[in-house]
This record gives sequence, C-alpha cells and structure tokens, in this order.
Amino acid sequence: MIDITVQKRIYLSSPHMSGNEQKYIKEAFRTNWIAPLGPNVDTFEKDIAAYTGVNEAAAVSSGTAAIHLALSLLGVEKGDTVFCSTLTFIASANPILYLGAEPVFIDSEPETWNMSPQALEKAFMDAALNGKLPKAVIVVNLYGQSAKMDELTELCDQYEVPMIEDAAESIGSRYKGKPSGSFGRFGIFSFNGNKIITTSGGGMLVSNDIEAIHQARFLATQARDPAPHYQHSKIGYNYRMSNILAGIGRAQLEVLEERVEARRTIFERYQQELSTLPGIQFMPELNETYSNRWLTAMTIDEHEAGVSVSDLIEGLAAENIEARPVWKPLHMQPLFRDVQYFTHGEKESVSERLFANGICLPSGSNMEELDQSRVINCIKNLINVKEVERKIV
Ligand SMILES: Cc1ncc(COP(=O)(O)O)c(C=O)c1O
Repeated sequence: MIDITVQKRIYLSSPHMSGNEQKYIKEAFRTNWIAPLGPNVDTFEKDIAAYTGVNEAAAVSSGTAAIHLALSLLGVEKGDTVFCSTLTFIASANPILYLGAEPVFIDSEPETWNMSPQALEKAFMDAALNGKLPKAVIVVNLYGQSAKMDELTELCDQYEVPMIEDAAESIGSRYKGKPSGSFGRFGIFSFNGNKIITTSGGGMLVSNDIEAIHQARFLATQARDPAPHYQHSKIGYNYRMSNILAGIGRAQLEVLEERVEARRTIFERYQQELSTLPGIQFMPELNETYSNRWLTAMTIDEHEAGVSVSDLIEGLAAENIEARPVWKPLHMQPLFRDVQYFTHGEKESVSERLFANGICLPSGSNMEELDQSRVINCIKNLINVKEVERKIV
C-alpha cells in the first residue's frame, strides 16, 4: 500500500526546463540532425562563447571530458604533476589520472572556500626548489563562488604555468565583472542534470585560443587525420555533444540569468531565516564577485548549534528532504592517499574544517516557496529542540 503520509521529496538541485527545449529538439528531429554534430551544437558553442566573452567553445559530453581535453592540450603526460583545488568533486582531478600524471592538492582559504593563494605559493616554491613545476593548475569555483582570480593568476603567470578554470558549478557567476570560465588558458563548464542549467549530461571547453579549441574538437572525434581513409596518428576520444542535447542547452542558456536570480533569492531567504540561529554561518561572497549560488552552503558549529552536519542531514532526510555534506577534500580520499597537499596556514587545513562543518541545502531554481519553508522549519526545529534539551540538562 502507498504511504500517503510521505511528503513530497525536496531535491538538492533538480533539472528546471524552460519549455523552449522542445523547439530545438523538434528542429533536430525535423532536419534529422540526430548526431554528435549539427546546427544546435554550432549555435550552442557560439552562444556560450559569446556569453563567456571568449573566442571559441567546444561542446563535449561532460565537464570531465572538457578537463581531460584541456589537460591533453597542455601536454600533460605520465610523470607530470598538476596542481588542483582539494575542496571539489572528484571529477576535477580524475582526468589527471587518466593521463598518468599526479595531482598535488591545494587547500582552500576562508573567504571564498576556494584555492588559497597562500597555499598555492607554498606549492610553487616547493616545486621550483625540486626543479619540477606542474604542467597546469586546476582552479575550482565552488558552489558558484569565484576563487581569488587576481592573486591566483598572478602566481600562475609568475611561474609561467597555465591555469584551467573549473567553472563546472559557476556558469553565470562573475569576478570583478568578468564571467566565470573566462580566466585561465582554458575554462570548463558542466551541464550535468544537477547543475544550474543542464543538457541532462554535457560540458563545454572554452578558450581565447581558437587553434586549441579546433584541436580539442579533433581530439574529441577520435583524432581522425585529414585523409581520404580512416587514419589516426594520435590518441583520440569520443567526446562530442549530441545535437539533441545541445538543443536543450540552447534553451537553458536563454534562461540562465533567471535561474541565477532564483538561486540567489533562495540563498538570501535561507540566510535571512537561519543565520540568527546559534553556530550557523553561510558561505561568504567575496567583494566584487557575483555568485550564481548554485548550492546554498553553510557551516554549523556543533558546540554552539547542538547538532552536527550528520544530525541535520539525517533530520532533513526523515522529512524527505535531500541535503549533502560539502565535498570531501580530495587529499582525504583513499584514492589519493599518498598525494602531496599544501595547507592554507602553517598547520591549519581550511578544507578539512569546511568538510567537517559544511552542509549544502536544497537550492533548485524550481523549488517552491513552501518547499523552502519546509526546509527552514525543519532546520529550526532540529536546532531549537537540541537547544531546549541542553537547557533542561
Ligand atoms: C567542480 C566540478 N568539476 C567537474 C565536474 C564534472 O562535470 P561532469 O559531471 O559534467 O563531468 C563537476 C560536476 O559534476 C564539478 O562539480
């Protein structure tokens, strides 16, 4: 029997279609462009390049594929090292392993939760001392918040190491007015189903280097040489985006600004309602940056709040609400047990603290106000109940 007392599930971040997607999909069917190329792919690439303010973009099957291509284009190979933010999803670093290279992880700093320039400088100094600079630095913009791009770019320039901006979570964000994804030699976006705009699955590689993006398209289509027969001189991949999915992407990009506004409104309401509770602090927004607030993230001081991150996640799950811990830092992953890691402070690891205390709340732009009230009330109850219990004791 169906349990009718179960409340509607509230997801962390679910796809939000505009309605216009069908128009571009139908056009693909009408013209029989059912392939990993076609007019939707071409237009989506042009639209993303224009939106990001870069010269060229290549639509691919995922954000992970875009990172893999960027690293390949920078010549990363076996025995090389690549610096990477530690506080991120595993997909930022997996492509380093695909190429047989080794990651070195860099801690976060507290103002953006992103790569610490201080830790990056330590890592560069150490690498220079050992006579082995990294081939690239992958900088992540967590949950939509831009990293400290001025400081990080200056360091990368100083050591002449190219930056890849992992903007998988930050399309629509800006740093000093400049769009996310446009910093560094390459930028990458993800259109996974949980992102602020989606193609169900997909990604984009962007750059001002037009020749490099042409080369990316070549690598993404099995690196087929220009010969009358099938000839291949390099390792290639099957990484292009389908013309049908690019149709979804075109319609989604048309509503990106609305989606950003909706997510920012959700963040602001959470902040208004919850920041006065004991021990709660919201992810900051650095001056002169504009975050798409892909996910609302906050930290909980267990001693002050009386509840831990896992208490909150369990309490919300009991109400059929999905919440998640902040990404587990990559240097703490069993996969990267023996990998080098540089901290922000002398000993202080900011990413470990954020992981221990951080939680992401449901943030989908299609959330109704009542859904958000459910989340807020549930959190208030969980924290207040604990407070009352503590007072009684
Ligand atoms: C920071 C970050 N980098 C890379 C990716 C990889 O993107 P995709 O899932 O499209 O491969 C994601 C998301 O999934 C991500 O959150």
